[in-house]
Amino acid sequence: MRIGVLTAGGDCPGLNAVIRSVVHRALTGHGDEVIGFEDGFKGLLDGHYRPLDLNAVSGILPRGGTILGSARLERDRLREAAESSAELAKQYGIDALIPIGGEGTLTASRMLSDAGMPVVGVPKTIDNDISGTDRTFGFDTAVMVATEAIDRLKTTAESHQRVMVVEVMGRHAGWIALESGMAGGAHGICLPERRFQVEDLVKMVEERFSRGKKFAVVCVAEGAHPAEGSMDYAKGAIDQFGHERFEGIGNRLASELELRLGKEARPVILGHVQRGGTPTAYDRVLATRFGWHAVEAAHRGEFGMMTALRGTDVIMVPLAEAVAQLKTVPERRMYEAESVF
Ligand code: F6P
Repeated sequence: MRIGVLTAGGDCPGLNAVIRSVVHRALTGHGDEVIGFEDGFKGLLDGHYRPLDLNAVSGILPRGGTILGSARLERDRLREAAESSAELAKQYGIDALIPIGGEGTLTASRMLSDAGMPVVGVPKTIDNDISGTDRTFGFDTAVMVATEAIDRLKTTAESHQRVMVVEVMGRHAGWIALESGMAGGAHGICLPERRFQVEDLVKMVEERFSRGKKFAVVCVAEGAHPAEGSMDYAKGAIDQFGHERFEGIGNRLASELELRLGKEARPVILGHVQRGGTPTAYDRVLATRFGWHAVEAAHRGEFGMMTALRGTDVIMVPLAEAVAQLKTVPERRMYEAESVF
């Protein structure tokens, strides 16, 4: 069998572990051939690929990023890829394509699959927001990075009697904020799934100070929003159209809390540091298992599916099911973390 592999969309710790696992299982387990397309679907369309043998993937297990490169592709080019799906498979002589990616990549994979490409998807995202799988690799690493940041911010916050507002990734789902906030013991957690009242955060900080604690840490997902009319002290920069602009919720919330509390507040935007660097052991294992199962699924002819973690087992689920909707944080999980506002 000849297998094509690519990584698309935003990168994520563990991508290299999947690539390595695919190559190992395919070559040593089945005597297959593997080629890697460069920069996601762009490589598939533009004919940029290279053969991947055991030496090509040697030493990449602990490395962050992706040796194949990644890119987000415009819709038009994706449509182009889908339309010529069957021909592309023939052109490269591939019997299976394993795209590793997030929601956008899996949606594109489904289009390609519907149009005749034999696809087995592998889900990835630090956001952990893909339906159909209990976990995605990359998430554990991101949570670890954010947790360490919260731990570190607590000591400096205490020294200066400040409120720290840590903004973590998560545009539509607050999994990173929820779990790093819980693990780091953040005093306030704000998620995209629930609009928060700034007044409640103000009360929380005042209560802490009134019982002698002289600092507070709030962990806010980048996609979190205040309830309508609950955040109106902070003033952003006025742009050329006369609109008020804030660079992100972390900055705005820190400014608002400082004004309301009369205490120093500092925003800390973690950004892409959550996506970089070496994956945790958990993510390496999950990524390796996904790679192994993707090759096995290809050999069973289970196309139009993706690998997924259910409980402790890796199973295959239809791509259609996985991309139907995003997996957001349910209410019952918010109650378990008492500091969700
Ligand atoms: O989807 C993963 C993610 O990390 C989001 O949480 C974040 O909003 C986005 O990627 C950032 O993407 P980019 O690399 O394009 O800035």
